[in-house]
Amino acid sequence: MPKTNAIITAVAGFVPEDVITNFDLEKMVETNDEWIRSRTGIVQRHIVKDPKKACSDMIVSAAEKLIKKTGLDVKEIDMILVATVTGDYVFPDTANLVAHKLGANNAFGYDINAACSGFIFALTTASKFIESGSHKKILVAGADQMSSILNYEDRNTCILFGDGAGVVLLEGSDEDNGVLDAVLKGDGSGAQFLHQKAGGSLNPATVETVEKKWHYVYQEGRSVFKAAIKGMAESINELLQKNNLTVDQIDWLIPHQANKRIITGVGDYIGIDSEKVLINIENYGNTTAGTIPLCLSDFEQKFKKGDMIVLTAFGGGFTWGSVLVKWAY
Ligand code: UT7
Repeated sequence: MPKTNAIITAVAGFVPEDVITNFDLEKMVETNDEWIRSRTGIVQRHIVKDPKKACSDMIVSAAEKLIKKTGLDVKEIDMILVATVTGDYVFPDTANLVAHKLGANNAFGYDINAACSGFIFALTTASKFIESGSHKKILVAGADQMSSILNYEDRNTCILFGDGAGVVLLEGSDEDNGVLDAVLKGDGSGAQFLHQKAGGSLNPATVETVEKKWHYVYQEGRSVFKAAIKGMAESINELLQKNNLTVDQIDWLIPHQANKRIITGVGDYIGIDSEKVLINIENYGNTTAGTIPLCLSDFEQKFKKGDMIVLTAFGGGFTWGSVLVKWAY
């Protein structure tokens, strides 16, 4: 029997309408457009303003675009994986809310919490369900509503992040395409550098945790910056070596979009032609689990069947890794 590969058959992205520009941030914290552009590459970020909307709504909007584009019958979706650190609730999981809102009532699902690496972890997990034959049509989402956990008085973090969602549809194929391999890593000693202190079982919400601003993103930027370049670049090199590929055989590199200088640092480290490195951070900032599927959606028109694409990410945990995808359409 031929091996079943997990292929991406459609992608779609969604960002909320409201935008915060660097100039808006100049009025909120001590910063300036020039600093933000030159240190991060970010020009604006989209944010959810409607207090009745949450992470699941962005995913549903992206999924509805995908469904419209493909004519997919939602009843055929048999699994939904959501990568996020800003789900609607601590529980239930956002994947179940998405299934309910879409009317995908033949799907089971769950969330994956791996911060900025969440989408590549979820994509790899979903590919195993497809390869085993147990599931046929899986919606994999990467989405974060970072504005819900940002302190807009902290210039170290509030300038970096935005809200957004992307989804892909994963299906089986006997063609030699799809999610071919992955190198995924974790190191819990990195937790101290990037985390949200309260709201979990260690520091449940109290008046004190709110007063101490422990429900916001905490990041030591410089430590994360260095680890991010090393982690992504080394995992790409390991992935290429494992698959007997040279960097010249890669058609596109889709890096997690946290900082343009991190992205160019990774590109330089592995020696890839800069035209193959896809960047859209200027429009969205860092949407955490949303960055890679948003890139797939924005640059979909560039991809040809058979293109070799490497997805790479680094984030809170620390978590990081790279995935090799042979484009299927
Ligand atoms: O997705 C994975 C998670 N996140 C990341 O990958 C982000 C990783 N880190 C970064 O992207 C960068 O470290 C930052 C963009 C967060 C910071 O850039 P940096 O080049 O590492 O700056 P720095 O932290 O070394 O700060 C340089 C200076 C400092 O002033 P002094 O001490 O030199 O006087 C900061 O206080 O820039 C100052 N600074 C700012 N100035 C204007 C920090 N934030 C700002 C700001 N506007 N928003």
